[in-house]
Amino acid sequence: MKSLLLPPHPKERRVVFQNAWTQGYTPDIECYEKHGGYAELKKALGMKPTEIVDEVKKANLRGRGGAGFPCGVKWGFIRRDDGKPHYLVCNGDESEPGTFKDRYILHNDPHQLIEGMAIAAYALNANLAYIYIRCEFPKAAKIVTKALQEARAKGYLGKNILGSGFDIDIHVHQGAAAYICGEETSMIESLEGKRPYPRIKPPYFPAVLGLYMAPTIVNNVETLCHIKQILKIGSEEYSKMGTPGDGGTRVMCVSGDVVRPGPYEIPAGGVTLGELIFDVCGGLKPGRTLKAVIPGGSSSKILRAGESFKIKSKGADGEMIEKEIPLLDLVMDAASLAAAGTMVGSGGVIIMDDSRNMLWALNNLNQFYAHESCGQCTPCREGVLWIDKMTTRMVKGEGIAQDPATLQNVADNIAGRTVCAFGEAASWPVQSFLAKFPEEFAVGEK
Ligand SMILES: Cc1cc2nc3c(=O)[nH]c(=O)nc-3n(C[C@H](O)[C@H](O)[C@H](O)COP(=O)(O)O)c2cc1C
Repeated sequence: MKSLLLPPHPKERRVVFQNAWTQGYTPDIECYEKHGGYAELKKALGMKPTEIVDEVKKANLRGRGGAGFPCGVKWGFIRRDDGKPHYLVCNGDESEPGTFKDRYILHNDPHQLIEGMAIAAYALNANLAYIYIRCEFPKAAKIVTKALQEARAKGYLGKNILGSGFDIDIHVHQGAAAYICGEETSMIESLEGKRPYPRIKPPYFPAVLGLYMAPTIVNNVETLCHIKQILKIGSEEYSKMGTPGDGGTRVMCVSGDVVRPGPYEIPAGGVTLGELIFDVCGGLKPGRTLKAVIPGGSSSKILRAGESFKIKSKGADGEMIEKEIPLLDLVMDAASLAAAGTMVGSGGVIIMDDSRNMLWALNNLNQFYAHESCGQCTPCREGVLWIDKMTTRMVKGEGIAQDPATLQNVADNIAGRTVCAFGEAASWPVQSFLAKFPEEFAVGEK
């Protein structure tokens, strides 16, 4: 990846990427230890588990897997002393189109993840953890398995780690290439050896009834790497890197029509969309203009070039003021993107220039969701196929006048009517493409 070979852009701050893109850094344990590896695990074992949870809360770390739930709050749901076994699951499914950050960590800095997981397991009183890696990442599974063996041999994993009296082991579990296995309850079913149908929440929130019906925390690869970094620099400094509600750095995976696509680690809220495209990523391809942006992975709602948003923020005297913010001035953090009607999601920023046809682009996404629906809920199982059928025929020039209205109707009847958020993930692109680019979907009027 070209961008990673370059020195960091002034807007970047490589924290979880700090080792991985250091010249000559290798994924073996000796190299990791030379770069300060496992120092924070040693520190953590001398802390009270509740102190670690408090640090994570104060750091304002939001999950990097897509939903953006505050990590410390989620960990706070685990009652350490309830006498039940607890589990930690690392979500390495990385299945959201447009997202490519976890794989780089798994390949280049597996010990950072293992250290983050060991710290998390200690804080949560979990003695067993899994790293769920999709089967399309065989190299990642091999590298992480070797790293786990190295960590066991050095006493960072296993019984009585580093003489602390705490036991933790971690195993790799390879998935079978289904997008739905990235959804946490589906991943848990898959780990249990079952068909990965998502569970109904409530009551099956993993922190209450998770793996083997025991309290379980599922966290994304990047999220767990941030745990080590929070202990390294302290929650105060860590949270200050980001915004009040969104601490630390975020990896933004920029793909599409920019000169330098790649994964960029940037303080949360540290760039506007315009700075990300034109400064960090070197701008659009020559002679092209911006048409649209999908800011947080394929499921997030699309934004149209030229639009603006009414966003509230605190003024100098502490009063809330509303401002009209043009798209390119939109800050790339959780709150601003939510105010613009979309989300920061998994950090997959897809840039589209004026060469792109929105009908074609939506059809491409629809094919993905039609292929990936697990089939458990009727609105999703049937609806995503209808949506795909309609845009496929529209792309062939065989659309009928009612198609846009029918597309809208079907999408509206999937979202909110399914067991898991796949229903929203598949509907939001349809709803937002139709709302933002109606002229490209109007049959017979082009
Ligand atoms: C359909 C679907 C697919 C998902 N895929 C992923 C994924 O590939 N990786 C991931 O970390 N989270 C994924 N998630 C989110 C997880 O359910 C869960 O929120 C996340 O792993 C929690 O970790 P975090 O709190 O660290 O973000 C997906 C969610 C849905 C609904």
